[in-house]
Parts: sequence; C-alpha cells; structure tokens
Amino acid sequence: MRITLRLILALTLTVAVVASLAAYFQAGQERKRQQEDLIRRSRLLSESLQEALEPMLERNAKDKLQRLVERFGNRERLVGIAVYDPQQKQMAVTNSLAASLVAPPPVIADVMADDANHDSFHTAGDKHLYIHASPLHVKDKYAGALILFHDTSFIKTQVAVLWRNTFLRVIVQMVLISLVTLLIVQWSLVGPIAKMAEWMKQLRAGETPSSAPPPKEILFAPIAKEATRFARHLSDAKAAAEEEARLRQTAESLWTPERLREHVRSKLQGKPLFVVSNREPYMHVRRGRKIDCIVPAGGLVTALEPVMRASGGTWISHGAGDADWEVTDSDGRIKVPPEDPQYTLRRVALTKEEETGYYYGFSNEGLWPLCHIAHTRPLFRASDWEQYQSANRKFAQAVMEELRGIEEPCVLIQDYHFALLPRLLKQERPDARIASFWHIPWPNPEAFGICPWQKDLLYGMLGADLIGFHTQFHCNNFLDTVDRTLESRIDWERFGVNKEGHTTLVKPFPISVAFPDAFQDARIEPETPLEDRAALLKELGIKAKYFGVGVERMDYTKGVLERFRGIERFLEKNPRYQGEFVFIQIGAPSRTHIKRYHDFLAEVEEEAERINWKFKAKDYRPIVFLKKHHSHREILPFYKSADVCMVTSLHDGMNLVAKEFVAARNDESGVLILSRFAGASRELRDALIVNPYDAEQLAEAIRFSLEMDPSEKESRMKRMRATVREHNIYRWAGNLIEELTKLQPSDTPTERRRT
Ligand code: G6P
Repeated sequence: MRITLRLILALTLTVAVVASLAAYFQAGQERKRQQEDLIRRSRLLSESLQEALEPMLERNAKDKLQRLVERFGNRERLVGIAVYDPQQKQMAVTNSLAASLVAPPPVIADVMADDANHDSFHTAGDKHLYIHASPLHVKDKYAGALILFHDTSFIKTQVAVLWRNTFLRVIVQMVLISLVTLLIVQWSLVGPIAKMAEWMKQLRAGETPSSAPPPKEILFAPIAKEATRFARHLSDAKAAAEEEARLRQTAESLWTPERLREHVRSKLQGKPLFVVSNREPYMHVRRGRKIDCIVPAGGLVTALEPVMRASGGTWISHGAGDADWEVTDSDGRIKVPPEDPQYTLRRVALTKEEETGYYYGFSNEGLWPLCHIAHTRPLFRASDWEQYQSANRKFAQAVMEELRGIEEPCVLIQDYHFALLPRLLKQERPDARIASFWHIPWPNPEAFGICPWQKDLLYGMLGADLIGFHTQFHCNNFLDTVDRTLESRIDWERFGVNKEGHTTLVKPFPISVAFPDAFQDARIEPETPLEDRAALLKELGIKAKYFGVGVERMDYTKGVLERFRGIERFLEKNPRYQGEFVFIQIGAPSRTHIKRYHDFLAEVEEEAERINWKFKAKDYRPIVFLKKHHSHREILPFYKSADVCMVTSLHDGMNLVAKEFVAARNDESGVLILSRFAGASRELRDALIVNPYDAEQLAEAIRFSLEMDPSEKESRMKRMRATVREHNIYRWAGNLIEELTKLQPSDTPTERRRT
C-alpha cells in the first residue's frame, strides 16, 4: 500500500506542479492579450473622436463637445471621457466621471510635453483602470487633451476564472490518477505477484501448479522466464531424485542424465568431454533484423544434444548459420543451450570452397550414397577429396586447440564427415582416447570398394581407439572391408583391428533418444499448451477421422515416394478410407544445393500432387506436405496425436524418428510402421515392419494400423516404450565412454606414444 500511496502522491504532485506552471503562463498571456486588445480598441475610438472633436474645439463649441463625449461615453467597459484645454481646464466630461474627476489627471502634462499618445494601467483599491490620453490639435497646434478611462477589472475576473478552472481540473486529474494507479497496481502488480507467489508455493510443495503459470505481463516477462526455468530445474531435479530412488527400490539399472553425468565425471576424472561433428547443435540464423536460434533437423543432433546437456564439455562443429559468428566470442565459442547454458559450442569456420567440396561434395555426394543402398550413384571428384582432407585438417587444428593442457582427453568424433580426423588427432595427441561413431550404414566390401580413396579413409578411421556403428551387421561389414583393403590383423574374437601396433575396437552402439525426456527443447515455453488433435487438424483445414504422420529431413534415402505410393494403394484398395484418412508429411528441406536433393524435393511435391488429384473431393486431399523446418515443439503435437507414424527408409543407420514417436506416446497408443531397412527395426520389434518397396505391404500395414484393436496397440506401444526407455541415449553414451576409457594404454601404439 505504501508503494501505491507513494506512486499516487508523486504522480499527483507532478501533475499539480505542471498544471500550475502551465496555468501561470496561460494567465500571463491572457492578461497581455486582453490589455493589447483594449489598447487597440482605445486607439481606434480615440482617433475617431479626435476627428470629430478638433473642429468643435476650433469653434469653441463646448455644448457640442459635451454632447459628443456623452454620446460615446456609454460604450462597453468605458468608464468615461474627458476633454481638457491647453491650460488643463476641463472642457467636457461624461456624467459618469464628473463627480470623481476633480483635479486634472497628471497624464495631461505628459501629453502636452510630448505631443503624443500615453497609455497607462492603474490600480487603486478595488478599482482597475486603463487611461488612454491623446493630444488634440487645431491648425496643427496643440489645443488640448482627450482622455479615455476604461474599467479593466474584467481582465482580472477572466484570469481568476482561468485559475479556478485549472484548480478544478487538477482536482479531477488527481482523483482519476489515483483511481487508475490503484487499478493498475492491483491488476498488473498485486494480482500477478500474488498469482506468481501461489504458483511458486505450489511448486515448492511439490504440487503440479494448478492455477495459471507465471504472469505474462511485459513487466514480468524476464522474471517469469527465469522463474519458469528455475521451476523446471527444480521439478527436473525432484523427478530425477524420485526416479533414482524408484530405480534403487526396484533394483533397475536405467540410465538417466544424472547417472550419465556422474559416470562421465568418474570415468573422465573430472576432465571435459569433447564431441566433434560437422552439424552443430544450435544454429544462429538471420530473419530480417532478428537473429533466431534453431536446432537443425537430423538424428545426430537429436541424439548428441541431450548427452552434452548431461555431461557438459565442448562440442566442436562447423558454424554454418549465417548469423553464427555474430553471437560467438573471438575464438568462435558460445555457451549453449541459449536459454540454459550447459556446455560450450566451438564453431569452426569453413570457406565456401571447403564447404562445397568437403560437405556437399565428398561427404554428401560421395560417402552418403556410397554407404546407403538407395540407388543413387556416388560421385567422387578429386577436387572434393582435396577439400575433404583440408577440412579434416582444419577441424584437427581446432580440436587440438581445445585439447591443449588436458591430459588423456576423451574425444568422440561423429560420422562420415571426419573419416580422416581420428588419425590426424592421434598423430598429434597419442595420449587422447578417440572414438569415432559412424551414424550411417557401412556397406559390404564390394560396394565400399568403388571409392577411389577407400584406403585413406580406412587408415584415417583406424587412428581411433574405438569405432562404433549402430548394428553388429555394420561392424562386420566394416571389418570385412578393412580385411580386404588394408594390410592389418583382424581380431574376430574381440572385433578389433591391429594396424601398425595400434588396436582399434569395432563395436555396435545402437543410438537412441533421451527417453523419457526426448523433447527437452520443446519445453522452452512450457506455459503455452501444446495443440491437441482437434486444434492441429483445424489449423491445417483437415476434417479427416484418422491421420498418419511422417517426419523427415527431405532425403532420398527416407523412402518418402515409396510411402506415398503405399498410401495411394491403401486408398485404392480401401475406398471407405477416402475422405477419412489423411497423411501429414513434415519435411525439412535438406542439402538443397545438391541437385539430387533439389530434384527429390520437387519429385515429392509432384507425387503428393498427383495422388491428391486422384482422390480429391470437396474439403479432402489425402496428403498434406508441410515443407519447412519444424522445431521439436512444432513436431511433438503431431507425434502425440497421430494414429500412425510411418518410417519407410530405403536404408538407414538407425532412424531416430521411430524412437522419437515412441517416446512421445505417453498415452501408450498409436502405431509405428517401420522399414526393415532402418537400424531401428532390430530393436522396435512391435512396430509393423515393412519393406518400403512393396506398396501392397505398405497399404496393408496402414489398414491394419487403423483397424488394430486398442488393447493390441497399447501392448505393442508399451513394449516399444520399455525398449526405448531401457536403451536410451544416456545408456548409449555411458557405454561408449565406458568402452573408450576401459582401453588399456597398451592398446595405443607405443612408438606414437613416445612422440
Ligand atoms: C544424418 C547424418 C548426420 C547429419 C544429419 C543431418 O543423420 O548422419 O551426420 O548431421 O543427417 O544432415 P545435415 O547434412 O543437415 O547435417
């Protein structure tokens, strides 16, 4: 209340002072304006009287003079008129003045002396007069004075009215200001603060806050944002502690972020963890005058980001966003996630030539199609290979800078962009423990053998102490390839390669998502509720009874065209679902500078259009293609309310969309259709496993998914959730780090260790 009172007093005082000053100046101006007006009118009257009086003076016609002054003397605000001769004797005077004007006014002497007009204002008691005196002439000689007396008390009255009005206005303003202040304070401060206090109290008490979340008023936005984060940390910590306690009780060995954090701390003895990947976890992009921070699409980021959040450390990757360098420090470092920093992102700058040759060229037009059996020919250009080597060297340099001063650091290198990096690092830092994880399939030796630089790639990779793939099948393919290509000794018992005295272990680590919290970044604004099914469909103008979803980076390996053909067959074979079933394809454009990707995007659009045309009816089209990058927060409602999710990759290392869908379904419903060519199909046995090239089988799987008994859906989803829960990303990282740190120093080449 004291604050309110102070606010009201300060405001009303300010208003009163400002209003008084304004009134003071206004009154002064009004007085001046009225006086000037009076002077002007007096002069006009005086001039016209002079013209009439002077001939009468010449003739000494006193009677006429008297009549004339009487006639003019009753004008508004004129008290009277007097005429004096040169000897200051009264010649004529209006009756109203006759009694009071006994002696000649002193101004006559001045008029006579100067032979000019004289104006003056006088105040005597409660009388206020304005006197205008002017000389009269006969034949150009001074012949007397004409004096006009005006009553000026009306000026004072008007100024007084002005002051009174100001006073009243100030009173009204004070009352209004007090009322408005009281209301604003009540609505915008007292109310929201009380709500926020209640909200925090509920949190502290461990209840799920029922009422409104923190207020959204601009004034409170920063506090509300911080309070929300604080609350999230609090409830995460509580949930983690409860989960730990529960796991201890049930003697389960589930991996959680806390467990991973502890594990990393003990295995790395407090040293930071280093991750290297081409794609960065956060990308800053310019949108008009704003800089937005987006999470790029793709399994690698989805998997690794929660690991780094849990374990901390440094993630080194290519700064590819057009505003990336505007937000980093001079060494290219920035703390992320932006809303709740947990680890360091070190960005590496690449030239346009490097990006073109290394990323678009050798990595994505060469190695990507080489490793995926998706009927797109790899392109191997010597110039791309040059850039690939140069970019690997550049990254090696950046990693070396980060490792400086840290003994036996642990480095996790990610994916096919960095086949040469393990060796480059090992040569410089033999004490480093290096793991390289290959996120995509490894083909058989014949397929890999077409790469002109296969030996260099394998030799580079074998610089690592540990190489990981998603499946044992890919490990075997890799070992076969090494066996056929390089001079080395394969240890089939331990699944290791010994080359020049250094052993590299090759093991499967099936990657996963951050179950149970696979959508951490979707919680940035938890106060905005997620759209439910009805809202989602309404927004897209869909009236269907069932809907399926596909979430992809638009890549030709994902089997999107095959999926659409499956949908087409399904609608042909089951016409009752026409108008009832819609498929929503969320597709983030990817690597679009590569012709194959560019063309693929157009092919998908054309195919969707063709099928839509075929089944088009009023308010109905079977495929809705949402061609843009979607954040996790935008994707989550689709996962949560779809009847079926389709993952139909033609070849895929793991495919985390399948696992994300399962993680999102805490309602234990929804059906997953999953390609047998995706690594995930080895673990998610309760999905409807399909061959995406077989349209009939796809059509049947869609029908089956829509007609499946709810109890069967539930039991399938429960089992899949148990698998993802058990084999989550924290276990993946825990196992990888465990294996890497377990390696004995004797596993690293002695001659290198000495350098
Ligand atoms: C796959 C690769 C990742 C890559 C991701 C997105 O998952 O294994 O290394 O980051 O696709 O592709 P992009 O080229 O956009 O990084």
